[in-house]
Amino acid sequence: MKNILVVGSGAREVAIARKISESSVEHKIFCVSSVQNPQINNLCCDYFICSLDRLNDICNYALKKKIDLVIIGPENPLEGGLVNMLGGAGVACVGPRKEVAMIETSKAFARSIIEKCSPQKNPKRRVFTSIEGAREYIGELNGEYVIKYDGLMGGKGVKISGDHLSSISDGLKYAQSLVDAGGSFLIEEKLIGEEFSLMSFVDGKTCCHMPVIQDHKRAFDGDVGPNTGGMGTYSFANHSLPFLKKADVLSAQQTNELVVKQLLKETGTPFVGILYGGFMLTKSGVKVIEYNARFGDPEAMNVLSLMKSDFLKVCFDVVGGTLTKESVDFEKMSTVCKYAVPSGYPDKPLKGFVVECDNNNPNIFLASVELVDGRVVACGSRTAAVVGKNIKIADAEKLAENLVCSIGGDLFHRRDIGTKDLLLSRVARMEKILT
Ligand code: AMP
Ligand code: GLY
Repeated sequence: MKNILVVGSGAREVAIARKISESSVEHKIFCVSSVQNPQINNLCCDYFICSLDRLNDICNYALKKKIDLVIIGPENPLEGGLVNMLGGAGVACVGPRKEVAMIETSKAFARSIIEKCSPQKNPKRRVFTSIEGAREYIGELNGEYVIKYDGLMGGKGVKISGDHLSSISDGLKYAQSLVDAGGSFLIEEKLIGEEFSLMSFVDGKTCCHMPVIQDHKRAFDGDVGPNTGGMGTYSFANHSLPFLKKADVLSAQQTNELVVKQLLKETGTPFVGILYGGFMLTKSGVKVIEYNARFGDPEAMNVLSLMKSDFLKVCFDVVGGTLTKESVDFEKMSTVCKYAVPSGYPDKPLKGFVVECDNNNPNIFLASVELVDGRVVACGSRTAAVVGKNIKIADAEKLAENLVCSIGGDLFHRRDIGTKDLLLSRVARMEKILT
């Protein structure tokens, strides 16, 4: 019997808990998070309500419950060193130690690692600790720039010229606010192209790659509005994307592999967990946008819905250093994931309203909700994700659209994710950029 602890309680962790529950390895599921997700609650034998910054309490809980394996969903406990603490107490984790989780938690560190192993994939950039020289550097980039907070901000710390920053003084004001908050920031060249993500299971040395996914960070249809945690994602049955060539996917895979090697070389600590590369195909080839040290949310819902191999066995291979290239296998199907989010999300989300949906539907994944008097109530962040899966992307999209519309509450979602129109426009845009 293996005792498995899931850390976190969003839609990603619902997907993780469900995959564990399908395992042929005899197991019991435990969960720790600050709120109780009703779908995870149905799958686990014990649920520990605890803020995810109380690392000591989580550690003590894991020891008390004789946990054999911890699977960590969100990034904050990785940054805080939960894996270091649990590792010190002899508990294995799918998730990296904090020295290597820095590939996500510090954008400057990530750029320096990439510079050493795959420099052609870095944009032009500079790290700043004060506003001094920022105006001049924006000038050097011809006013086409991106300002990034050098730390975790839930995917919302990046502002882009022309989109969020309409003038140089806007940009400098944002940069100053980051400095005032005690942080450093990066100014990067604004890359133009199509984004995609590639996640890999990593056991410290071997990478097992998952199908590539495209996420939609902007809140509204047509890729407008503020950046969000991610409004939805899709993947294709051939495990590529319509605007990518095979060589582009291979290039991303090779980059994840090089980053794993470089992290070990640089820090002496192997990366154990899920490595998430965020890439952009540009006129000058594949570039790195960012790295994450965990499953993407919503990307996890796409790939875990496709995974044929026994997830728990793969997790034991990850922590045991026994992954082989053949350890992980995915169905050749298309997936579309859409998030229903509260009206006003992400800036002024409504909360406290009742969410009506079929909690037992395996294609609905509740996220930022809690149970109040037996009813599911929205907490303000992304409310629920749905997944449609079919050989054809058009059918997967219809399934997802129908399902997301079936969820009741003061919610909205992006209708365009995975639609033919959006896909065609992506391909046309990419062709134009490449010629
Ligand atoms: P990040 O939090 O680093 O993933 O950034 C959030 C979003 O900002 C990305 O998904 C991109 O859409 C955009 N972004 C980040 N860096 C760049 C860049 N150098 N050029 C263009 N867009 C970027
Ligand atoms: N979907 C992007 C992320 O999880 O950061």
